[in-house]
Amino acid sequence: MIRAAITAVAGYLPDNIVTNADLEKIIDTTDEWITTRTGIKQRHIEKDAKKATSDMGVEAVKFLCKKRGIDPSEIDLLICATVTPDMVFPATANLICARVGAKCWGFDLSAACSGFIYALVTGSQFIETGRYKKVVIVGADMMSRIIDYEDRTTCVIFGDGCGAILLEPTEDGMGVQDFLLHSDGNGVTHLHMKAGGSLNPSSIDTVTNKMHYVHQEGQTVFKHAVYNMAEVSASIMEKNNLKAEDVQWLVAHQANKRIIDATASRMGVGPEKVMMNIERYGNTTAGTIPLLLWDYERQLKKGDNLIISAFGGGFTWGAIYLKWAYDGAKAGKP
Ligand code: UT7
Repeated sequence: MIRAAITAVAGYLPDNIVTNADLEKIIDTTDEWITTRTGIKQRHIEKDAKKATSDMGVEAVKFLCKKRGIDPSEIDLLICATVTPDMVFPATANLICARVGAKCWGFDLSAACSGFIYALVTGSQFIETGRYKKVVIVGADMMSRIIDYEDRTTCVIFGDGCGAILLEPTEDGMGVQDFLLHSDGNGVTHLHMKAGGSLNPSSIDTVTNKMHYVHQEGQTVFKHAVYNMAEVSASIMEKNNLKAEDVQWLVAHQANKRIIDATASRMGVGPEKVMMNIERYGNTTAGTIPLLLWDYERQLKKGDNLIISAFGGGFTWGAIYLKWAYDGAKAGKP
């Protein structure tokens, strides 16, 4: 059986770092509140107004190809998960392809914080059918461009960042083993951006009324996230007869440390098995999971069982059971 294996990982973060202390100077907040409620200490924010999501994607994909020793022209398909595309159309995936020299087709996938896992599952289908040999999945969001830096309930959480992975076929049992994906459009009221689409096209009124920013009802989203991310992670373990001791890593979307801890606890896995970088990057939406894989790559061993899970706007949520395909110590960043 052909499975889709992750064979390379790369990431990109803008240089500029905004700490909790920096935010204390512009809004009514404290480092103590942000740290205890979310686990975040700092986030990367792009300062250059001319840069956009595709710029991060270009850097990550170039680095990815270099690491794997392939030319971008070998890529068969590129999917970019994002809710902050450069523009409504064309797709950011197309812009990335053109600039890295990929000759393939591509498209954007919009599933907010679950975008990367939706895209990974979608891309893996093209590998499993035998149709394609190299599929790139990019998770990229420049959240700072849709955040109101006068709204202390959202601006402390989000950051900019991008990760990319390469999927290739394998017949050695590694790669994507199973997935569970869900969505519920009734979640729209609790987490969305009001304007800029066909419902509320951009106008002077939408700008005046701050309708181009993330609207989040934090507590409601928190409750849904804790329940669904924990439930779907436990469900995929049960479906695949995995006990806590069989799981080497939980790779969970980085929205709030308390949500990740609750998921780990429901799965019965200890903190030593939980990938965590929220303290450095905040919530980069579609970027969080590939950035975790990039940061932890050196610790990953062939055959490790990973449970990858996410919850986000939509609502969207899900989990993937994946067997890591290579010795990360030889490939990862120092
Ligand atoms: O990634 C996509 C999915 N998103 C999520 O998973 C996010 C889920 N939600 C959360 O992570 C949390 O709800 C937040 C981090 C957004 C908020 O934490 P919370 O513990 O739910 O706080 P809260 O909204 O219940 O607010 C508690 C208090 C309020 O004050 P009062 O009304 O009790 O006086 C807020 O006004 O904290 C206040 N507050 C702040 N205080 C200092 C809210 N934001 C801040 C802030 N600094 N930045």
